[in-house]
Amino acid sequence: MSIKEIVLGPYIQGSAIKKMIKMTPNDVIDEVKSSKIKGRGGAGFPTGLKWQFATSEKEPIKYIVCNADEGEPGTFKDRLILSEYPKRVIEGIIIAGYAIKAKEGFIYLRAEYRYLKKPLEDIMQEMRDDNLLGENILDSDFSFDITIRMGAGAYVCGEEFALIESMNGYRGEPHNKPPFPTQSGYLRKPTVVNNVETLAKIPFVMTMGAEAIKYRGTFESTGTKLFSISGDIEKPGVYEFDMGITVNDLLKIVGGEDAKAVQVGGASGINVAKKDFDKPISYEGLPPGGSIIVFGKDRDMLKVLKNFMEFFAEESCGQCTPCRDGNYRLLEGVKMMEKGECSVRYFKELELLCEVMKDSSKCGLGQTSPNPFITIIKNFRSEILYR
Ligand SMILES: Cc1cc2nc3c(=O)[nH]c(=O)nc-3n(C[C@H](O)[C@H](O)[C@H](O)COP(=O)(O)O)c2cc1C
Ligand code: SF4
Repeated sequence: MSIKEIVLGPYIQGSAIKKMIKMTPNDVIDEVKSSKIKGRGGAGFPTGLKWQFATSEKEPIKYIVCNADEGEPGTFKDRLILSEYPKRVIEGIIIAGYAIKAKEGFIYLRAEYRYLKKPLEDIMQEMRDDNLLGENILDSDFSFDITIRMGAGAYVCGEEFALIESMNGYRGEPHNKPPFPTQSGYLRKPTVVNNVETLAKIPFVMTMGAEAIKYRGTFESTGTKLFSISGDIEKPGVYEFDMGITVNDLLKIVGGEDAKAVQVGGASGINVAKKDFDKPISYEGLPPGGSIIVFGKDRDMLKVLKNFMEFFAEESCGQCTPCRDGNYRLLEGVKMMEKGECSVRYFKELELLCEVMKDSSKCGLGQTSPNPFITIIKNFRSEILYR
């Protein structure tokens, strides 16, 4: 594991909360806004702005949820943060709660990470004993507590609305937006949903100040980012890089110079071929989602694509037709290509179907699941279509 004390530290337990308690909630939001930190859960929404949206709602009861449902294939960075840097995440939740004037926060923990529940609860108890969590934090009039809710193993429940529905006791299914969770979320109250890594960065922003995070990364994508890197490389693991690192530089560090392609931004991200390895990974460049999967020169890219499409066909919640049927049709098409049975005409229909899915699916799952189909076939057209 190559994670270093850059992103998350320097860190002294409680120092960010001590600073926070002397500030007004609006000042905390301004500090986070000024850091230009964007959500690390995939969509890259500005964190301070999201908190501000929640505070601007008249409803006085508000909630903060830490999204620890990490289910994107190849992503395991949040697990590492929760295992090795949990106090920073918990402090981040407390600070977010203070900023939006919430009294309760939640960690929505992926079912497969159940083994982390007890250690997280023990740490929260320790923090209660130190008066950093619970009633009258640091003897102020701010009271706030956190409970853990377990997921049940569905990838779609990482989507913020599906997650909230599952917390509300319903089937974990996404909704149309608006309303956004900051308007109507858990128990239909304004709710901020933030990724584990986003929240883990907040103590750093608070103690070091908004400007400190801007020393790294790019103008639009401030700070560093954790990447779960796997596949045909010498040194798989979780790495921390400056936003804006090129694929080439990343491959040199992880021992993957022989790669013929890299899947950036997870299974639903995009496939990048060698000719584009000089491009930066950032919100204004290649999508900086948590997972990078590297494919060596001998990898069969159609098998890779089949693997991704099997995942999406399985994980679609089935609520809307373009995603439910679309992912199944794309998978079927890949199987036809494998057998050499996909006509050019049908292949063109599948390409059209990808556009329909992107435009008309209800949530991010169906809107992004055609990405690997489109980009792998674009990059490896001759390898795939003339087999
Ligand atoms: C199918 C699907 C799965 C998702 N899974 C996760 C997840 O596991 N963790 C996460 O933080 N965000 C996930 N997201 C994104 C969330 O909907 C949401 O944007 C994010 O939690 C917001 O946090 P951030 O602003 O800190 O990035 C997923 C989105 C979709 C469409
Ligand atoms: S896009 Fe897919 S996962 Fe999302 S609501 Fe529609 S069927 Fe469900």
